[in-house]
Amino acid sequence: MYFYGTFPEDFMWGVSTSAYQIEGGWDADGKGPSIWDTFTHVPGNINNNDTGDIACDSYNKVEEDLYLLRALGVKNYRFSLSWPRIFPNGRNNSINSHGVDYYNRLINGLVARNITPMVTLYHWDLPQALQDIGGWENSTLIELFDSFADFCFQTFGDRVKFWLTFNEPHVVAWVGYGIGIFPPNVNDPGDAPYRVAHTLLKAHARVYHTYDRKYRPSQGGIISLSLNVDWAEPKTPSDPRDIEAADRYMQFLLGWFAHPIFKNGDYPDVMKWTVGNRSELQNLPSSRLPVFTAEEREYIRGTADVFCFNTYTSKIVTHTTTRLRPFSYEYDQEISVTVDSSWPSSALAEHRAVAWGMRRLLNWIKEEYENPPIYITENGVGIKTKSDVDDNARIFYYKTYIDEALKAYKLDGVNLRGYVAWSFMDDFEWLSGYDPRFGLHQVDFDNPNRPRTPKRSAVYYSEIIRNNGIPLPRDDGFLYGEFPKNFFWSVATAAYQVRN
Ligand code: BGC
Repeated sequence: MYFYGTFPEDFMWGVSTSAYQIEGGWDADGKGPSIWDTFTHVPGNINNNDTGDIACDSYNKVEEDLYLLRALGVKNYRFSLSWPRIFPNGRNNSINSHGVDYYNRLINGLVARNITPMVTLYHWDLPQALQDIGGWENSTLIELFDSFADFCFQTFGDRVKFWLTFNEPHVVAWVGYGIGIFPPNVNDPGDAPYRVAHTLLKAHARVYHTYDRKYRPSQGGIISLSLNVDWAEPKTPSDPRDIEAADRYMQFLLGWFAHPIFKNGDYPDVMKWTVGNRSELQNLPSSRLPVFTAEEREYIRGTADVFCFNTYTSKIVTHTTTRLRPFSYEYDQEISVTVDSSWPSSALAEHRAVAWGMRRLLNWIKEEYENPPIYITENGVGIKTKSDVDDNARIFYYKTYIDEALKAYKLDGVNLRGYVAWSFMDDFEWLSGYDPRFGLHQVDFDNPNRPRTPKRSAVYYSEIIRNNGIPLPRDDGFLYGEFPKNFFWSVATAAYQVRN
């Protein structure tokens, strides 16, 4: 079950954060508000009425954060740029030099320590001013996002060589515009997510081409996006309908974005077929899933240099037609999603730890997208507690997930290039506020100085990095040999145990 070995020499070990979740300084030095500022400031929206107003105060703690990154020994640090910190009103006529300075200090500090910055351009904190004109439902955002990205390439691209356009566009489209529990809280599960995803894909492609054309020749970096996915295990693997259902789940979740970008510029066939079919049943004049023109398909196809994904758990999927909200994204999929009650979980854990799902997922991606170079850009576990410095459950999680990733690399030939843990430190966990904790470092949110303390998992993770994987410890090797010639081998009994 346990496999020992190491990753290639240049494997990219990292940790991740995002701007809104750690920076704080929500209105410092001319930063504009984001949709998350607006949302968290309404009482009742977030668990415990927590906000990201101060968060980990990373806006004021560049040196502390750099010190801890160095101590971990990471090769890269994945963080995101706050669009409204750089363009307070979302547009490039409102450049905030203090925001630019902050990121320059961070990036320079990383480079000076030999840590590669891996920069996400959009991790959900849209400038409020752009939500006021319709957010991602307004296609002018394609142009505006491109102009923000262009500025970032121009300003930071001499030092940043790894860019990600969107973090989890699925969450933006579905959680923001489908179930609507994330801002902008649009509850339209049948239409809006498909339209928004369509815009996000075009925006991604646009930014990719800007980088490719204007910046790559001189800066020489790479660009992709981080897609979220859980492994889907068919409930009854011997039932072809469940296998199809699990595959449908993967296509609707990952393929929605990955199929256009990594395959042919278009949505997965199963999405086109089912959404089109159900739209017809509704007597709609056209499919709720928008259609790309041939030119758009050509423009979108191939717009990522490497495959990046975030994963936390696995799901059990079975085919069903009952209890689905009519004509919704869920209904279009005809599946029911659960978890297996035998999978490891503690009352405190956010998700079930299903490490073997990581290996299957990596293999699925390898097969489906023809063996692309892969980076795991988020993986980790949330524990519902205020303080978990002695976090054995997290060590178990990392040890087993990384080991399955190692098997995928060594035994299955998956082209895995990097692993980035979520998260560098405890941070603002969206609707859940400061509970659960995902960090390798504990942050004391009751203390105005927001002191950070390495958890045991940080020590463990740094050991994995130092070893470049999980090599067999020398003392634990199986010992082969013989006892002395006259060694006395026998068996034993006792009268009372063997006699009637
Ligand atoms: C997001 C992170 C979040 C993490 C844990 C990911 O989907 O990208 O921002 O903190 O999940 O919930």
